[in-house]
Amino acid sequence: MLQVPELKGIITAYSTVGRLRKTLITHMLSLFNGVIDDDFVKLRTKVAKTHYRIGLQPRWYSSGFQNVQNHLQRIVFEQTKNEDEQRALISAIGKILNHEQQLVLEAYEVEHLKARENQYKEIKEEVKRKISLVSEEVLYLSEETDASVKQLIENGQFVKMQIATRAEQPLRSKTMAEEGQKRMQILTE
Ligand code: HEM
Repeated sequence: MLQVPELKGIITAYSTVGRLRKTLITHMLSLFNGVIDDDFVKLRTKVAKTHYRIGLQPRWYSSGFQNVQNHLQRIVFEQTKNEDEQRALISAIGKILNHEQQLVLEAYEVEHLKARENQYKEIKEEVKRKISLVSEEVLYLSEETDASVKQLIENGQFVKMQIATRAEQPLRSKTMAEEGQKRMQILTE
């Protein structure tokens, strides 16, 4: 395992070869103790969860099992001379290892789906958050625009009044001048 950089990285980050060896021995003993119950299935789910959490890809787990299988077959050939017995043992080992891998790989798939669902939920929440931010911004901008329009209208009315006052000015001046002339005339008569 230490020859594969990806695996070496995982081992260095999360464990040690010594610890993994002990874990594997305990696991193999439980695998061949002849009891397949709820706890057995739960433990396989835990193995998948742990491997998924540390980023161990299923293909590495499966190839690890290939090594285990080769090793066990060698032991069978060394320990038994009877061919029928060898065949029966190899077949039993194959079934047990196959069942084990099916359980773990299915649990891997469940973990993968859960992670995807969580990712989807996170993205949905992020989109919701962004939409709410944008709509708050739009609301603020529209309130600002409303205030500016009101200001413009008020300014327009003011300008209109100014223009009207200025337009009246010459007329008023003319009237005042005429009035002044009339008064001068009255005074000089
Ligand atoms: C034959 C295939 C494998 C089997 C049967 C196996 C079994 C296990 C088990 C039973 C655990 C403990 C799970 C728990 O209780 O949380 C475990 C954890 C772990 N496995 Fe595997 N594993 C296999 C392959 C691998 C491979 C190829 C790596 C390579 C990096 C690996 C790295 C780890 C690590 C780092 C942990 C967590 C830390 C620890 O328990 O020391 N495993 N594995």
